[in-house]
Amino acid sequence: MKVKKAVIPAAGLGTRMLPATKSIPKEMLPVVDKPAIQYIVEEAVNSGIEDILIITNRGKSAIEDYFDYSPEVEASLEKSGKISELNLVRASANLANMHFIRQKETKGLGHSILCAKSFVGNEPFAVLLGDDIMVSEVPVTKQLIDASEKYNASSVGAQQVDLGVIHKYCSLKIEKLEEKIFKALDVIEKPSPDKVFSNYAILGRYVLTPAIFDILEKTSPGFGGEIQLTDGLAELCKIEDMVAVDFDAKRYDTGNLQGFLEATIEFALKDPSVNTWLREYLKMHNS
Ligand code: G1P
Repeated sequence: MKVKKAVIPAAGLGTRMLPATKSIPKEMLPVVDKPAIQYIVEEAVNSGIEDILIITNRGKSAIEDYFDYSPEVEASLEKSGKISELNLVRASANLANMHFIRQKETKGLGHSILCAKSFVGNEPFAVLLGDDIMVSEVPVTKQLIDASEKYNASSVGAQQVDLGVIHKYCSLKIEKLEEKIFKALDVIEKPSPDKVFSNYAILGRYVLTPAIFDILEKTSPGFGGEIQLTDGLAELCKIEDMVAVDFDAKRYDTGNLQGFLEATIEFALKDPSVNTWLREYLKMHNS
């Protein structure tokens, strides 16, 4: 199963990061020195993805500008001999073939993925949720692509979460196939305690066959009155094979302040340009 296309939904309103996200897309908030969405795009590229569709909406044009050339900035950096800055500015525009489409109404993640139908065509594709930055040796999307190839199946990235918070995610019904890989039998979005299948939740990464589109077109609004991707997946895993991959990675949910700060501090602690200073700074404020 060759996976060359990826879809990144970035049409959320960013309400958990207000007021900053009133006029800046939450995906453009910097985690150390790069906007959050660049980490997601880099994961896709490092997984062998060549074409990336970002689903945006009104007020998100800064994302398109970021992945485009910026002739004025580049000319000025070139003129003043700031070559390493120039390379950084150019790099984000050359990461992959970037495509953009607007989701005109906020109708949920499932509806957002449906906007990718004509981009995807008849191929399997990856989905990377913009809030979830993953740090791992093998990119999480690559871990999923490998499982999809091995089992000739769709795959979803899953990890165990506390039962106390699973109502914020979804819950998978699974059967073990091998170490860290399970057959997905069912899944429920934002389950109430009596509806939980297991403590495995899907976290931000998917490799799907185009069969999902026919399903999503017929999916009625679910949790929160929105068309849920998870409801489509519950259907997909009953008509085609789907595996759940307990992926190896640390996940940062940058869609909320705590996760955003965790990513910022931990990434800065690994950045040679600031880590020595930051360590001292944190020590000084550790009282
Ligand atoms: C979305 C999905 C949910 C998933 C979660 C974390 O929820 O609908 O199934 O578990 O992302 O990736 P949201 O965070 O948009 O509420």
